Amino acid sequence: MSYLARDDRPADKAARYAELEDEILAVLDGEPNRVARMATVASMLADAFPVFFWTGFYVVDPDKADELVVGPYQGTLGCLRIAFGRGVCGAAARDRATQIVDDVHAFPGHIACDARSASEIVVPVFDADGGLIAVFDVDATETSAFDAADAYALERLMARVFA
Ligand code: SME
Repeated sequence: MSYLARDDRPADKAARYAELEDEILAVLDGEPNRVARMATVASMLADAFPVFFWTGFYVVDPDKADELVVGPYQGTLGCLRIAFGRGVCGAAARDRATQIVDDVHAFPGHIACDARSASEIVVPVFDADGGLIAVFDVDATETSAFDAADAYALERLMARVFA
């Protein structure tokens, strides 16, 4: 689709994320509970852009250090557990690095929770000590929905909310 027909072209995108970041931090001011913070982030990002249809966290299972378990999210039913290294979320957890996937159907081992998922970004989430606590996953209904602007904004948001 032409950028003329999109409302999430990069300049708008950066501005929209900056606005959302301020709103999210204002809502979370004084709230230390991690589940509440994750739920608020998932909810407030869910409607950020029209192509987003799933936003949420997979948290590192404290009882199984190499496995993610679903956390707060907005969207259709997500799978419950993802082993490190499996799918896009598992790759982000294993590598502790953001994954941008333009076409999920071309990603080896992609876990198809919803047939509408066309592209995806997954950002690692760290605590103040640099420990991996979760990954944050956004799925979109269009291919190539995510770029460096999303990665920058989401990494920055996760650092400000959880570190
Ligand atoms: N697509 C993800 C699985 C989680 S869902 O999309 C909600 C993946 O391959 O990691």
